[in-house]
Amino acid sequence: MQYQSFPGVKGGSRSSEKLAALRLPPFTGKRFLDVGCNEGFFCGYAAFDGAKKVLGIDRSAVAISRAKKRFPECEFLAQSWDALPEGTFDVITLLSALHYAEDQSGLVHRLMESLSDDGVLVLEISIAPESGDEWIKVKRSIDERFFPTRGKLGSILRDYAWKIIGHSVNQAGDPLQRYVVHVRKLKPYAYLLMGSPGSGKTTVSRHLFQQAKVPVVSGDRTYLQVSQGKHEVSEALRALISEEFTTASIDTLTRKLFIDGFVEELAALWSHQAGYRDFALDSFVPQEHRQSVKDALEALGYYSVEITSENPGRLIPAKTASTRAMDYEKHLKTHRADVFEQQIVVTRTMDKQWAPSLRWHLDAPVSGQWLADEPAVKVAGWAIGFNDCQRPMQVYTKTSKGRQLYPLDRPRNDVLNAVFGGVEASPDFWRQHPCGFGFTLETALLDENVELGIMLEEKEIPLARMKVEAGMDRKAPSFGERLIKRISGAS
Ligand SMILES: C[S@@+](CC[C@H](N)C(=O)[O-])C[C@H]1O[C@@H](n2cnc3c(N)ncnc32)[C@H](O)[C@@H]1O
Repeated sequence: MQYQSFPGVKGGSRSSEKLAALRLPPFTGKRFLDVGCNEGFFCGYAAFDGAKKVLGIDRSAVAISRAKKRFPECEFLAQSWDALPEGTFDVITLLSALHYAEDQSGLVHRLMESLSDDGVLVLEISIAPESGDEWIKVKRSIDERFFPTRGKLGSILRDYAWKIIGHSVNQAGDPLQRYVVHVRKLKPYAYLLMGSPGSGKTTVSRHLFQQAKVPVVSGDRTYLQVSQGKHEVSEALRALISEEFTTASIDTLTRKLFIDGFVEELAALWSHQAGYRDFALDSFVPQEHRQSVKDALEALGYYSVEITSENPGRLIPAKTASTRAMDYEKHLKTHRADVFEQQIVVTRTMDKQWAPSLRWHLDAPVSGQWLADEPAVKVAGWAIGFNDCQRPMQVYTKTSKGRQLYPLDRPRNDVLNAVFGGVEASPDFWRQHPCGFGFTLETALLDENVELGIMLEEKEIPLARMKVEAGMDRKAPSFGERLIKRISGAS
């Protein structure tokens, strides 16, 4: 019985309609194998569409001899699919034929082995509507055959990437709906988060991929590690990263890397870190270079998925941030006088003669510090003596009401680190005696000058004077006053 249809020959199958339903990929330059090719309708199409190699096999010698006559430009073999031809193919079709195989899943797996890494196997099969992972025996007008349920199809194709493309063309009397299924080899996935710094890609990678235990390769961390001598990379790549990682921002470095043609090496480095398995890339890639990243990963066998967000970058450029900060500082300088009424003024008074033998610092209060109805002021700092001054000392405050002494009783390792380069490197005396002090002073005392100093045994060494001074009137100037001030340019 005539199966395929050609112009002037009506077969049981409407071959042109089936061809359209199959959604075959473009054939230019491809190698095509049609298994159970019958009279070669689809082989002829592949040759017509530019395939570089076309091979059809069918166990029917009659069908093959007709195919050879119809399409002499193609190769045909009268042989069973029990032995598949040598070599790999970019497109393989098995159309309306799987149900004739004794081991249907075995045939699918063998066909997948004959497929190139980027290839597609196109199946046209009937699927039984029953549920479960079952083969269903179906009585047809001509015979009884087994057909897979969707569950069975899923279990056969579990190790591949596959998709039911849609319905195929049913033939008269078909008991089941025919479907077209495209099957491809599974490849490792590279999920690409390449947005601008601050666009939220690290958050996405944390939420999505780390929880799913998909390794996340950070571009920034990779640069750091390369600059630290880790990873085997070319000298040129290491030199550029080491030089630029410290001096330029990550986005400037990244741009240079892509402009200088390091995309393949970077892609290899990222995928190496992921063990050539699925991974998510968290690395800024300038828009114009993103396709080259995909191409490089695809050349390494990856299927790349770019994950983009419509959110614009939320990190303002560093330059804008510093301009805004300077504007704000100007604004603060212009307007601060309007709102405060009291500030502390600290004046250093230590005589120069003590400079070689005494170092001190007042952490609080600092000159210019505002006071807002505070009953007490915190005084804290440190003092360290050298040479002759390396003796027990105290801090004193002196007002008209008298002198008050405070101990140096606070260990300050931060100070020892800063002054002597480490606690261990400090003189024994300062390792054994704290150099920090801290106490509170009634704010009211600061209405007059308070002298702060060091008592070195019986000797008073004045360090500073502290006093509260009135600021401007708390009342803010009126709008008119502000306007006049602004017009006159006064600050
Ligand atoms: C229903 S026809 C489909 C033909 C063609 N694939 C199409 O869709 O137009 C099934 C074809 O499979 C072939 N066939 C059946 N068993 C086969 C086997 N073991 N090896 C190779 N071809 C086989 C038949 O000879 C027949 O040409």
